[in-house]
Amino acid sequence: MKSKALSNQVAIVTGGGSGIGRAFTEALAREGVRVVIASRRADVLRSTAHEINETLSAERVFPYEFDIRDRAQIDELARDVFERWQAIDVLINNSGLAVPETVEAVTDEGWDTVIETNLRGVMQLVRAVLPHMRQNDFGDIVNISSQAGKHGYADVPSYCASKFGLLGYAEALRDDVRKTGANIRVFNFCPGLVDVENTRPDQTPRAGAIHVANMARTLMYALSLDRDVVLEDINIYAR
Ligand SMILES: NC(=O)c1ccc[n+]([C@@H]2O[C@H](COP(=O)([O-])OP(=O)(O)OC[C@H]3O[C@@H](n4cnc5c(N)ncnc54)[C@H](OP(=O)(O)O)[C@@H]3O)[C@@H](O)[C@H]2O)c1
Repeated sequence: MKSKALSNQVAIVTGGGSGIGRAFTEALAREGVRVVIASRRADVLRSTAHEINETLSAERVFPYEFDIRDRAQIDELARDVFERWQAIDVLINNSGLAVPETVEAVTDEGWDTVIETNLRGVMQLVRAVLPHMRQNDFGDIVNISSQAGKHGYADVPSYCASKFGLLGYAEALRDDVRKTGANIRVFNFCPGLVDVENTRPDQTPRAGAIHVANMARTLMYALSLDRDVVLEDINIYAR
């Protein structure tokens, strides 16, 4: 099975400007991966890219403004990245959000926002990226679900539905790449609370949450596994 050094790889990290996505981006860029970070807030993307590139003294992180709720922008992102580097080796579906609500007061607007961002957008982005991975016979797709993709919580019903749905979709995707013999791996993270505020290495995560660095280390470990290894859902949380 084809392999490729990380230093020759190109990644897309949605929501890579902040939080968990930023930690993934830093870890990948440190290993030489060119990382396109894509989300709505251009200023956040730009400053994250600038800070990481400056630390590494190399241009590894590229900001890309896009809204995952917009089908045309999804297709454009995949097309632009492939045209520039002739590869999309790693796709990290990290963009996501929750709206606070109750089961009895789910609003159409809240439901649409959550499902379109966390689930429909991922399916559309994978659809846009997959042909490029198949063409190069190489790819890794990493989905950030949640502990709320395995357990239900009364205060975030739409979020739970989207994250459960993401895992169901990922299983179908894994079955597809297996049946078609594609050299594409599918990983799912199901984290409990991750502290996205105390992110410096010297900072202690708040009670009940893990330090975000653990997410990045686990990603790099998962990617280092042999191409024929399936690592199913990564359930990671504070003990
Ligand atoms: N932190 C936790 O405890 C935890 C636990 C389990 C799972 N997760 C999951 O981990 C992922 C990252 O979350 P985080 O904790 O790191 O919080 P975060 O910093 O808020 O990250 C979420 C990212 O999603 C992006 N995003 C939101 N709407 C978008 C849209 N319409 N189009 C494109 N990008 C969009 C945001 O960027 P823009 O605002 O710039 O668009 C942001 O960078 C999420 O999927 C979340 O559900 C987090």
